[in-house]
Amino acid sequence: MSFFSSQFSLSLHLTLGEIMSEWVLILGGSTGHGAATAKKLAKDGYGIIAFHFDRGEAKKIAEQTINEITDLTSGRCHYFNTNAASEDAMKTYIPKIKEISSGSQLKLLLHSIAFGTTTNFFGDKPVTQRQMDMTVHVMGNSLLYWTQNLLNQELLGDGSRVIGLTSEGNYLAMEGYGPVSVAKVAMEAVIRQIGWELGQYGITANSVQAGVTPTRALTKINDRWEDWVENTKKRNPMRRTTTPEDVAGTISMLLRPEADFINCSIIYCDGGEHRSGTI
Ligand SMILES: NC(=O)c1ccc[n+]([C@@H]2O[C@H](COP(=O)([O-])OP(=O)(O)OC[C@H]3O[C@@H](n4cnc5c(N)ncnc54)[C@H](O)[C@@H]3O)[C@@H](O)[C@H]2O)c1
Repeated sequence: MSFFSSQFSLSLHLTLGEIMSEWVLILGGSTGHGAATAKKLAKDGYGIIAFHFDRGEAKKIAEQTINEITDLTSGRCHYFNTNAASEDAMKTYIPKIKEISSGSQLKLLLHSIAFGTTTNFFGDKPVTQRQMDMTVHVMGNSLLYWTQNLLNQELLGDGSRVIGLTSEGNYLAMEGYGPVSVAKVAMEAVIRQIGWELGQYGITANSVQAGVTPTRALTKINDRWEDWVENTKKRNPMRRTTTPEDVAGTISMLLRPEADFINCSIIYCDGGEHRSGTI
């Protein structure tokens, strides 16, 4: 082995070694974008800590995901089935997270929770204040409280990323999407401000805007979700819908050192869907 190749393999080894000791935290990691990201980052060498909130059939799917990630990480995988948006969950689980990571800083805090009211503002079932407040808290503001609490416990630091998932519904009005749309705008503002305030410590915050993706969440938005999928395929410049694996790959890239200077931004992972008109 030449001097250069041995140096290269040494530095590669160190980089992988460093990653092997790093952990990521995924809020909403059992299905859809969160599960695909957990699998991809497990393959990249990260330990996975995740929350999900699943009952019945969804719990069985979650168990399959957890088994797969446990194998991929050789056991460096911890899933908690509870409402991650509650203050109690943060109080109870942040000390456990600190124990799991041996106090070392998390590489990533990802918000991939889909849990909100999908109804219109007017008509048969007008959204209530309680439903609006819950949706904006769970799908938007809860990311701020997680970030505050993790930062207080020194679990975020130089090189850590805060990422949330947004959608085209952040600037388009759609059937049944009003409350989630408000939550997406709140989340984007939360992320922008986190990145603006914490950038000086090397912590970045960005939104990833996924295109329409056939996941469990999509089926809950509207009975016509299959029409949405078909229309999206026609409208998307790449003639297909987004997959959770597309989003997972984008997030994996954003964890690389080359992305250290990307902050307070929205990164589109949708094949150009957001640039494509609907006529
Ligand atoms: N599917 C799409 O078309 C699409 C497009 C753009 C953005 N997004 C966003 O991506 C994110 C993930 O959605 P998805 O499509 O992967 O949905 P999904 O239903 O497949 O996954 C949602 C995850 O959130 C978890 N969860 C729900 N409530 C929770 C709670 N209170 N506490 C902890 N975990 C909870 C579920 O257990 C699951 O792991 C959402 O923010 C969604 O708005 C989705």
